[in-house]
Amino acid sequence: VLVIGLTGCGQQTAKPAEPAKAKVLKAGADAAFAPFEFQDEKTKEYTGFDIDLIKAIGKQMGVEVEVQNINFDGLIPALEAGNIDVLISGMTITEERTKKVNFSKPYYRSGLSMVVKSDNNTLKSFKDLEGKNIAVQIGTTGANEAKKIKDAKVREFNNAPEAFMELKAGGVDAVVNDLPVNEYYIAKTGSKDAKIVGEPLNAEEYGIATAKKNTELAEKINKALEELKKNGEYEKIYMKWFGK
Ligand code: ARG
Repeated sequence: VLVIGLTGCGQQTAKPAEPAKAKVLKAGADAAFAPFEFQDEKTKEYTGFDIDLIKAIGKQMGVEVEVQNINFDGLIPALEAGNIDVLISGMTITEERTKKVNFSKPYYRSGLSMVVKSDNNTLKSFKDLEGKNIAVQIGTTGANEAKKIKDAKVREFNNAPEAFMELKAGGVDAVVNDLPVNEYYIAKTGSKDAKIVGEPLNAEEYGIATAKKNTELAEKINKALEELKKNGEYEKIYMKWFGK
């Protein structure tokens, strides 16, 4: 039996005039990186410092922001393919990435740190990670740096929570990941299981990325960011997530 669906085929129904829709800015984030981007357990909404910031930027620009949850290593490809307009995901501004995308002015100062099990008394700094098993998130600066450690066995996970779970399960000796995310994880969930040791490995800065060719949008984002810093809105958002 051949069934042919005809619905919508050549039908012409007069559409009522639609009200002018607000322009939408499609923002991509890997929403498993609290406190920067994550899903609120109750409301299921995406929330966090980055989410508040990009929404404030959108408001400043007069556009509506729609957040899409995309794996971290898929964010730059999504931007290049035009599936999203902008990405904000605790993404460190690096030379390598700057070849592929435009970064805004830095909006957050960060750095890498290491997390070990709370009862581990032998691993005290990055030097001690030689020859150890390390969990990282795939495609991150943490992954890059961990791979430089002599004889370390680096295991890459899709997101940071999975790396932390592996540490808890005893599958690795340490997690190398962004300091503010490690701090948040330990404060919120992992204080019994894990601790941060040693000094941060480096200093990094996060930027908001747009497609290489979309220089106009990059400029608008920088302008909006500057405005939010002037009018106190940035400070408000910062204090909401990082204020003590
Ligand atoms: N800052 C690190 C990087 O740029 C990690 C970012 C991970 N972000 C995330 N939303 N998972 O490589």
